[in-house]
Amino acid sequence: MEDKIRVLVPEKDVDAKIAELGKKISEDYAGRQVHLVCVLKGGVFFMCELAKRITVPVTMDFMSVSSYGAGTESSGVVKIVKDGKDVLIVEDIVDSGRTLGYLMEILRKRNPKSLHLCTLLDKPERRVTDVKVDYTGFNIPDEFVVGYGLDYDQKYRNL
Ligand code: IMP
Ligand code: MG
Repeated sequence: MEDKIRVLVPEKDVDAKIAELGKKISEDYAGRQVHLVCVLKGGVFFMCELAKRITVPVTMDFMSVSSYGAGTESSGVVKIVKDGKDVLIVEDIVDSGRTLGYLMEILRKRNPKSLHLCTLLDKPERRVTDVKVDYTGFNIPDEFVVGYGLDYDQKYRNL
């Protein structure tokens, strides 16, 4: 796989885009505190950089999608939204939309004050489930991507 990796989005473009998203989020959440919820593991790099660019007060949580495999009553979910927070989910990529569709549905039932979604990458043409993305870094074509948190078989997240 190494040989086939090429740059789709240059690092400087990612940096610039995250700065832009951070500014927009700071404006939209003015006067409020935003609770960033990272979808592990892919969202980690993006969320950390994004958080640094947000100027309103930020709190953070991390959740693992795989922890919902057996049921919908994960303690993680309950803890994340019980306070009626302004929740902003931070994800690496929205592909079919199944993961986020499922996650948003569960979180919404916990009555957060607000619930929005921010993704670094989106492959809109792959969507099978309707998911409203509030903040998008880049729309990309239907190609498999790695780096900046995204993996192939748990590797390449660090690229
Ligand atoms: P969805 O449920 O089909 O939207 O899939 C979303 C998840 O699939 C993401 O959170 C990623 O973990 C993974 N994924 C989708 N496309 C890619 C890709 O191009 N590279 C790496 N992971 C991907
Ligand atoms: Mg993921």
